[in-house]
Order: sequence, then C-alpha cells, then structure tokens
Amino acid sequence: MTNKVKNNKSVIEVTDLYKTFDTKKVLEGVSMNLYRGETMSILGRSGQGKSVMIKCIVRLITPDSGYIEVLEQDILKLKDDELNQIRTRVGYLFQEGALYDSMTLAENLLFPLKRNKPGLSESEKQELVETTLRSVDLLDDIEKMPSELSGGMRKRAGLARTLVLQPEIILYDEPTTGLDPYTARDINELIVRIQEIYNVSSMVVTHDMKCAKRVSDRIVILHNGNFIARGTFEELENHEDEIVRNYFI
Ligand SMILES: Nc1ncnc2c1ncn2[C@@H]1O[C@H](COP(=O)(O)OP(=O)(O)OP(=O)(O)O)[C@@H](O)[C@H]1O
Ligand SMILES: [Mg+2]
Repeated sequence: MTNKVKNNKSVIEVTDLYKTFDTKKVLEGVSMNLYRGETMSILGRSGQGKSVMIKCIVRLITPDSGYIEVLEQDILKLKDDELNQIRTRVGYLFQEGALYDSMTLAENLLFPLKRNKPGLSESEKQELVETTLRSVDLLDDIEKMPSELSGGMRKRAGLARTLVLQPEIILYDEPTTGLDPYTARDINELIVRIQEIYNVSSMVVTHDMKCAKRVSDRIVILHNGNFIARGTFEELENHEDEIVRNYFI
C-alpha cells in the first residue's frame, strides 16, 4: 500500500453494482473505492464494462442496483441540479474525446466555464483558459479549431477542457489509446503532473500497460463482471492467478 492509500478518505465508493443490457450481464456486483489523491487504474479486456463502470459513477448510465457515493453524496439519489453540481467537481475525459468542432480551442474551454462558473469575470475566465492550456502545452494553439489539431493534441485539448473547471476527481477513459508511444508518454507524464499540481484523485481506464505502470498507485482488473484482482503494478505482475498475470506479458 502506498502512503496515499493508507489512512485516507474515499472520494468514490462503489458498492455491489449491477448492470445488464438486455440479456448481457456487464457488471455483477462490483465494489471499489478511490482514495483522495490517489490514481487507480482499471484494466480489462474490450467489452468487459470499464466504460460502463465509470459512466455509472457520473450517472451517464444508471445501474440496475448498487450504491455509489461520490464526494460524500449518494449519486443515484441526486436531483438533476445536484447532479450537475457534482459533475462540475468530477472531470470526465471521454474515450471518444469531446471537443466542439465548430469552436476554437479557447471557446471549447470557455463554454464549460460560462455554464458552470457564471460568477467569474471575463478576465478571470480568460486567465483560467490560458493557464489551463499552458499546463497541457497548447497555449500557442489557443485559436485553432479542433480539426487543425493532431490526435495527441486533441487528447490534451480534451483534458484541458476537463481541467478548466478544476475538478477534484478525474475519470480518464483510455487517455493514450491510438497515440504513438512518444505522445502516449507525454500524456502519462501529464496525468502524473496534474495529480501533483492539483492533488486530484483519478481513475484511469486503460489497455496501455506503460500508462498503468507510470500513473497508478493501485490497479484493479475487471473480468467477467467483477474485479478479480487489486494491487500495485508489481503485485499484479506476479499474481497467483494466470488470468491476471497474462495482462502483464
Ligand atoms: N448504452 C449501452 N447500451 C447497450 N449496451 C451497452 C451500452 N453501453 C455498453 N454496452 C455494452 O456493455 C458492454 C461493456 O461495454 P463497455 O463500453 O463498458 O466496454 P469496455 O470495457 O469499456 O471496452 P473497451 O475496452 O472496448 O472500451 C459491451 O458489451 C457493450 O456492448
Ligand atoms: Mg471503453
């Protein structure tokens, strides 16, 4: 156990989560918690329910049963306005990326700010946009349209859009998928740097073992509807269960 995990408070607590689509059982009693300040990765083969799991945490998908507490609130019981409030505190980096194609990078960041932080002045908003873009090395690209950005830049831009609201928790869905190894490494370093600067708590869904190794304090493995193993990278690499070890080959 790392120091972050020891004696620490949970910012997310998931208990006995079930989700079935038609006849397809996806989550079958999943439980986990995320401690303040830690980065936890979820590994699992394609279609095992990793994205469904993190979508349940922000109630983009409603589970069939189970309990989800996020920042001390019972997510499944929140009214719409309370849910929107919590969502400003939980950043979500979508697997597909989520930039508005008709807006410049600056406008893409201003948009969530206007909607969620109406109390800020124009100059405060502008300043926040610039600081955030600088933190992902995109300040020089502030007036570009998403179509003018490379894949790696788009990932960083999506991250900036999440970060601009200064969330306490960030959920990353495959942040390095489809990127070349150099760009993927930049994203990994960015995830670590963001954790250090903002002290956020993060969940990272990934297939990329280099990413999992670099960013994670703890790793869990989702397999056939449940977490079959939890531990540090080194612990799971040497796990007694062959299914677990196979992820690390
Ligand atoms: N909105 C939905 N409606 C119906 N089925 C869905 C929906 N979302 C996900 N599923 C199904 O749930 C299962 C898990 O999907 P999920 O997207 O969570 O997989 P994943 O582990 O994130 O995979 P990948 O690594 O490929 O992203 C799949 O069988 C998928 O078809
Ligand atoms: Mg997915």
